[in-house]
Amino acid sequence: VAHYFSNLPEVASRPGEVNLSVGELSVKLRSDRGVFASGRIDQGTLILLRQAPEPVGAADLLDLGCGYGPIAVTLAKRCPAATVWAVDVNERAVALTSFNAEALGLANLKAGLPSEVPDEVAFDEIWSNPPIRVGKAALHELLATWLPRLKPAGRAWLVVQRNLGADSLAGWLAAEGYEVRREASKQGYRVLQVLASR
Ligand SMILES: C[S@@+](CC[C@H](N)C(=O)[O-])C[C@H]1O[C@@H](n2cnc3c(N)ncnc32)[C@H](O)[C@@H]1O
Repeated sequence: VAHYFSNLPEVASRPGEVNLSVGELSVKLRSDRGVFASGRIDQGTLILLRQAPEPVGAADLLDLGCGYGPIAVTLAKRCPAATVWAVDVNERAVALTSFNAEALGLANLKAGLPSEVPDEVAFDEIWSNPPIRVGKAALHELLATWLPRLKPAGRAWLVVQRNLGADSLAGWLAAEGYEVRREASKQGYRVLQVLASR
């Protein structure tokens, strides 16, 4: 079975457009079959973008699991002085985020496979609507790979559906030594803030 998190989706490409509108921002994004939430902006993504505060100033920001790029595009638009790194294991998703960055003239958005982010880059903020359906072990491994790449004063913003384990994820993060705050709880989703300092 092919999932949206496959490296190369088996389903044939059929590009479409979705409207992303958050606050002042209103843009069209190219999407496609075989990527997460291909026909619409995911509800959790919208809640994350509307509830978490905008990053301030120049920074290195990461969109972990970027899909076709709604989070990365929003961050790159809102923070022209920031460098936004967008990674996904799904190559079609990476190509779509690159396409959307170029179409919108966002030279500060770099999309790639996870291995393409240089080792020395550390992040002020990680933003993610993380892949819950990969299973708990893979999700924990993903977060254990990227959260340590936050700068000492950095933080992560995660959106997770409550009935897909937001509270147990928060518990796991706390057990790993992170300070976790519940930033918002809305329409069945939790927005978690995870502080880098342990
Ligand atoms: C819930 S979707 C969110 C997509 C997009 N950020 C959005 O808001 O529409 C999670 C994404 O994580 C990606 N993913 C799964 N495993 C990953 C991994 N190990 N590293 C990076 N991305 C991964 C999936 O391919 C998927 O695009």
